[in-house]
Amino acid sequence: MARMARIALAAGWLSLAASGIGDASRAYATLPEHPSLTAKFQLPSERSIPIMGLGVFKSKPGPETEDAVKWALEHGYRMIDTAAIYGNEASVGKAIRESGIARKEIFLATKLWDSAHGYDQAHKAIRKSLQELRVDYLDLYLIHSPNTGKLIETWDALIDMKMSGLAHSIGVSNFGIPHLEAIKAHGRELPAVNQIEMHPLNWQERKALLEWCHENGVLVQAYGSLFFGQQERLAEEAVTSAASAKGRTPAQVLLRWGFQMGFQLIPKSIKKERILENSQIFDFELSDEEMEQLSFLKGELGAYWQPLDAPVDLGDVTFAEKKRGARSGEGARRSEM
Ligand SMILES: NC(=O)c1ccc[n+]([C@@H]2O[C@H](COP(=O)([O-])OP(=O)(O)OC[C@H]3O[C@@H](n4cnc5c(N)ncnc54)[C@H](OP(=O)(O)O)[C@@H]3O)[C@@H](O)[C@H]2O)c1
Repeated sequence: MARMARIALAAGWLSLAASGIGDASRAYATLPEHPSLTAKFQLPSERSIPIMGLGVFKSKPGPETEDAVKWALEHGYRMIDTAAIYGNEASVGKAIRESGIARKEIFLATKLWDSAHGYDQAHKAIRKSLQELRVDYLDLYLIHSPNTGKLIETWDALIDMKMSGLAHSIGVSNFGIPHLEAIKAHGRELPAVNQIEMHPLNWQERKALLEWCHENGVLVQAYGSLFFGQQERLAEEAVTSAASAKGRTPAQVLLRWGFQMGFQLIPKSIKKERILENSQIFDFELSDEEMEQLSFLKGELGAYWQPLDAPVDLGDVTFAEKKRGARSGEGARRSEM
């Protein structure tokens, strides 16, 4: 593992990454020396995130989500990824409370849905999520996608949330280079993470985005690491041959590929045995050859949306500034009274 970490830190990373074949064995983030469910990737502002968490997209609210989160926490997971649109925030919050594990030990992430873009709407949305989850703060709050635009206006609201402590870290999901460049061009702090569909089938087409994130210190969170559970994809020759060579399951091979790539992982399962299986990827290593064979698979899952191509709409880039000005004006008037 030290070798992987050294590779990521090597000064020659960029030129190697641009060369095509060979870069499949290089990581897009500095990997921890001793990986485990509680090992972490570094985030900006001296925050950190567990290298793996549990995703709960399509986990039904109620016992299905509560049990999955409970089993994950029992198995040692310390990160949960939900979203307002999943409709299961309340169940995630309940399972966390009932786990008996201190809130500060668990990294909790949720997302702002497309219909809540805009400065005021975003502020309302985070309050709703905090209420559903019954927590005082989020560890990570993401803009779910660039669809519906108002990107800078919405991002400015997330910056305020970070400043007020409602969200310790803020990030985006499904953002392409033009959306990220817009944030950068407007002089705003960059997202801590970009959560995107990421697995061997789409690695080649996403290389430019991955390199952009790496160069700008944006951690990539991968979704769809398990090919969305599609059996025919899990049976790809490159996956099954690595699995039998290592005595592992196809799911473990795919997750290990994602880990060695330097992606933060959030595999979803509602099954106790799979939640455990998915976490057991830190005691074997894929060779450079196995990484390359996996990385050159091609195809689409067809199960996901493609918001990375959404137009770049900024919204009112002065809205937050005006609001902050109005708030400080009110404060000044009150203190004069
Ligand atoms: N930001 C976004 O736009 C976005 C989009 C999609 C997902 N996400 C996030 O990313 C997480 C993961 O993505 P995902 O849920 O779409 O896909 P995924 O993790 O690639 O796959 C989940 C599917 O794989 C099955 N599965 C789990 N473990 C397995 C194993 N060991 N062997 C075989 N099949 C297995 C699950 O079924 P069972 O549950 O029956 O085990 C489920 O059907 C989501 O839960 C969500 O938190 C974000």
